[in-house]
Amino acid sequence: MNTLILGGPGHTGSRINDRLTAQGHTPRLASRRTGFDWNNPNTWQPTLHGATAAYVCFTPDLAFPGVPEKMATLGHLAAHEGLERLVLLSGRGEEGARHSENALRESGLPTTVLRCSWFQQNFSEHFLHGPVTRGHLKLPANDTPEAFVDLEDVADAAVHALTHDEPDNNTYELSGPELLTFTQAAEILHNAMGRPVTFETVDVPTFVADLTQDGVPPEEAEPLAYLFTEILDGRNATLTNGIQRLLGRPPAPFHAYAQRTAMAGAWG
Ligand SMILES: NC(=O)c1ccc[n+]([C@@H]2O[C@H](COP(=O)([O-])OP(=O)(O)OC[C@H]3O[C@@H](n4cnc5c(N)ncnc54)[C@H](OP(=O)(O)O)[C@@H]3O)[C@@H](O)[C@H]2O)c1
Repeated sequence: MNTLILGGPGHTGSRINDRLTAQGHTPRLASRRTGFDWNNPNTWQPTLHGATAAYVCFTPDLAFPGVPEKMATLGHLAAHEGLERLVLLSGRGEEGARHSENALRESGLPTTVLRCSWFQQNFSEHFLHGPVTRGHLKLPANDTPEAFVDLEDVADAAVHALTHDEPDNNTYELSGPELLTFTQAAEILHNAMGRPVTFETVDVPTFVADLTQDGVPPEEAEPLAYLFTEILDGRNATLTNGIQRLLGRPPAPFHAYAQRTAMAGAWG
């Protein structure tokens, strides 16, 4: 098995790499630092060459305009290069992401789609790290319940899909085991960190200004803000059984993530 991890150094890719390596595989990581660039289609075919399976993690977001066309091209190249399966990281409730999933499936290759809830690690490894450290979560959303999923579970699910004997052409919705509002998530973070964390609904410019403090460029923060106003309307406020179906065990709760992450010193 020659597995390619597109987005290899990232949040999901690095965890998948660790697991595959521990199992004795030698996955190949691809991103801009290895010469693979989502903005330069000329780099895609040489990257796919020699692989039999690929984990596809698009950055910054599968739901953004223009991504379905990229997925269609990537899928056709993957089929032409003889890949036998694809595993696509996607998001729940995102209309744009649905188009990208369908476009990748035009390849005809067996494609496992992992449609994830919000990652728990958004609060520590991504755009909410700064706001949590400052003790003040500001989002352009109401206090909507979300079923935050642990990236360790997402990585386990992806590795299962990449390595299972039979390629799997199904879509799995991956959520955590409980619905939490942002106020409840902030309380859990407060308990884990021992410092207050509050949640406030803000308008899009305030959210973008908060993120730019942490170095997130406005051209990334703005589409993220509009995506959140789309998906944080309660449409994803349901639990799913994707982790149980794929892994035969329940997903990990938010408080376990918060405690181990606070103990590791992620928020200072
Ligand atoms: N955050 C959430 O709650 C959530 C929920 C559901 C789904 N998702 C989906 O998760 C995906 C992001 O996953 P992730 O967090 O694992 O990714 P990530 O860590 O944000 O990024 C993965 C890697 O992509 C590489 N990269 C950035 N720009 C690139 C480019 N132009 N060409 C090639 N590589 C590039 C970067 O490495 P280099 O710097 O070396 O290029 C980075 O390490 C998105 O598609 C999003 O829709 C996220």
